[in-house]
Amino acid sequence: MPGTQVTNLRYRCIGCGNLGDSACPDFRCAHCGDLLEITYPQWREAKPSAADLKSAWSRRRLSQDPVDLSGVWRFRELLPALSVARDQVITLREGNTPLYELPQCARIAGLPRLLAKHQGMNPTGSFKDCGMTVAATFARSAGFRWVACASTGNTSASMAAYAARGGMRSLVLVPEGKISWSKLSQALDYGAVTCQLRTDFDGCLCLLQELVRRAPIYQLNSINPFRLEGQKTLALELLEQLDWEAPDHIIVPGGNLGNSSAIGKALLEMRELGLISRLPKLSVIQAEGANALVRTLREAGGKRLVSVHAETRATAVRIGNPASWKKAARVLEATGGACEQVSEVEIAQAKAEIGAEGVGCEPASAVTLAGLKKLVKQGFVKPDESVVLILTGNLLKDPDYTIEFHRGELFQGSISENAALNPLRHSPIILDASLEAVIRTLEQAEKC
Ligand code: F0G
Repeated sequence: MPGTQVTNLRYRCIGCGNLGDSACPDFRCAHCGDLLEITYPQWREAKPSAADLKSAWSRRRLSQDPVDLSGVWRFRELLPALSVARDQVITLREGNTPLYELPQCARIAGLPRLLAKHQGMNPTGSFKDCGMTVAATFARSAGFRWVACASTGNTSASMAAYAARGGMRSLVLVPEGKISWSKLSQALDYGAVTCQLRTDFDGCLCLLQELVRRAPIYQLNSINPFRLEGQKTLALELLEQLDWEAPDHIIVPGGNLGNSSAIGKALLEMRELGLISRLPKLSVIQAEGANALVRTLREAGGKRLVSVHAETRATAVRIGNPASWKKAARVLEATGGACEQVSEVEIAQAKAEIGAEGVGCEPASAVTLAGLKKLVKQGFVKPDESVVLILTGNLLKDPDYTIEFHRGELFQGSISENAALNPLRHSPIILDASLEAVIRTLEQAEKC
């Protein structure tokens, strides 16, 4: 079976702390079965200088080298060392995502200013691309012909694209009937062997973990620590955009909990290397119907996972048994962040409010704004503090949800809930093809 040997890192088990130079195909510790993370032992002897890193990363923005045009590989000093020539990197120019002001959402949340880092502006429309460029590159350099993932849709879209770019075959396992058509269509177009399994995401992931022990297939779920290394660059790029002034709060959606773990790891490494002087509080928001981390922290003090049977229309985070719960719980503790849950109505409202700014995002991303409103009300986020929301997926990822929302068909909702949602609804208007009818509609709209 092909193997991944990278020279500048070691794998550390997050459970028993065991260190190793290689990883099993399921990326779990051979001794205790817990997840592995990547560490860079050489930083202890020769820490890269923060000033040198900042100037190298800034200089590369003018370069036309494909690895510098990638918003991930531009930060390569904090990533696993490439064992291949630079032109062997599988990249779609991921990263390089915008940081938007959301002035209306800021007002709604009760803050003077609110920023959103839009990872939905990545090549396949989600934050997954930042991890995928790294993990797919290492899969190919290790000699794998096949890559595979279980997914709620975005990972599969991203993996299929990077596998296709890299000349590898890909196998996708998704829960049947529970992912959006846009995401499914991406996997098909990029040529993945796509299996819709009669189970949920957790069932797909379980099956994949068995499969990689039997067949020479490289798994590209966020259990794979190379994925998380790539996703760290979201935080590096964000801090660079903020001129290395750390915000008070970063708020991220939580599903399988890989992204929050990656962002938290990046924040801790940035502080270790002196790139930032203080840590932002990293908070995770979950849908009420998929609130495993919320319950794990509240009911078990973060000591053991409280799994749930997940149900939410934010299908990207319809996950009840999050693999990286322990990593996420640790970074929340290390940064002093909060973990909150939001209802289906709160998610729909927040999504429409982000849409009304001309930005938009998919439902799972909107949990961040819905959660922020709660955290402000609870006094955890103070009105004078700076906040960045991480929008993880593009608005176009789930058009069915958006259309059902605007037509008032997404859910029943109580009278008071509908009173809050109705002003945000813009149902399509079917008219005869007459100029008068259009003008009348315009006049009516002018009065609203
Ligand atoms: N937002 C979006 C748009 C996602 O697609 C996901 C996860 C998350 C948030 C949660 O991130 O799992 O790192 O906590 N989607 C995965 C998938 C599970 O298969 O596409 P997480």
